[in-house]
Amino acid sequence: MTAAKGPAITVLGGGLMGLAMAHQLARRGEAVRVLSRRRSEAAGFVAAGMLAPHAEGLSGDLLALGQASLQLIPSWVAQIEADSGLSCGLRPCGIVVPFATPAERDAYPTAAFGQRLDRRGLEQEIPGIGERWQEGLLFEQDGQIDNRRRLMRALERACVELGVTFQEGSQVLELVCEPTGALSGVRLRSAEGEEHHLPAERAVLACGAWSAQLLPQLPIAPVKGQMLSLQGPRQALRRVIFGPGTYLVPRQDGLLVVGATSEPEACFSEGLTPAGQRQLQEGLASLLPEASAWPPMERWWGFRPHTPDEAPLLGTSPIPGLWLAAGHHRNGVLLAAITAELVAGAILGDLEPAEQDQLNNFSWRRFERN
Ligand code: GLY
Repeated sequence: MTAAKGPAITVLGGGLMGLAMAHQLARRGEAVRVLSRRRSEAAGFVAAGMLAPHAEGLSGDLLALGQASLQLIPSWVAQIEADSGLSCGLRPCGIVVPFATPAERDAYPTAAFGQRLDRRGLEQEIPGIGERWQEGLLFEQDGQIDNRRRLMRALERACVELGVTFQEGSQVLELVCEPTGALSGVRLRSAEGEEHHLPAERAVLACGAWSAQLLPQLPIAPVKGQMLSLQGPRQALRRVIFGPGTYLVPRQDGLLVVGATSEPEACFSEGLTPAGQRQLQEGLASLLPEASAWPPMERWWGFRPHTPDEAPLLGTSPIPGLWLAAGHHRNGVLLAAITAELVAGAILGDLEPAEQDQLNNFSWRRFERN
């Protein structure tokens, strides 16, 4: 650890985006403190960990950002693993998107990036795939990372090793600004229930689906997702299967993560629902019938931070001194690497012009009312 360059940068949010920001800033010699309310609600612990710009059918600037992040991920993971001494569980396993008809396959937004599969090809890639699926696209370049069990822990350890400090159980109640409008601090409720003012002239907002509670100008709303996992035989499934409404993500040890519902109407309502769990079971039975008999392990839910165009809000914010790393909707795990790189560069003022252009595509200003 080298001596920090100045007053600490405050990261609001201890989820995947907050940790990725803290790690990157600390690697660049900054003192960093992370304010985290409740780790268990972080989307980084909830997501399936797919690295899937192509399988998710992204397009335009968001596809380009996802592809850039996918390129960065091996070196980003290597940094985290070196700093933490822990594996992140990166698995470049490829993802198969199955379709009922060739027309559906050819209309897929990212079809040009995939390898076409007929029924025989599908059966080779996914032995046991359901009868309904006759065509497919294989995206060899997509993959997964074991976010829930490995990446989050490794990132947190890497941050600690680099001198990042954590204030767990701290709820940020309000951003406090100078008369000029610039950030001066946050009003905080500590784990002990005491309210106090914490000076902070530079901060990053990484509060996921809760980000608009601190900055109402941000059009970020929760989209609830329910998930479950099963224990399959090791190696039973090699590829991720990304079906409509349901996807199956096989970890190295045979654990199969099954996701996910998409429930904007649920807002922040907690808990599982019979309809949500039924959707996952039906999707599982359709994609890989034999897996319905595998032993159930866990069921959980979380909240995606949705924006109107389903792309993140990155870089400067309406408040000078506050930067954004928020609103990643379905692609937070994929985009964490590029978010940390670009937003850290913006804070430290060392972005290349091409990187600044990339960041500008995701400015909060695109939603500014005239
Ligand atoms: N990226 C998958 C999901 O949000 O469910």
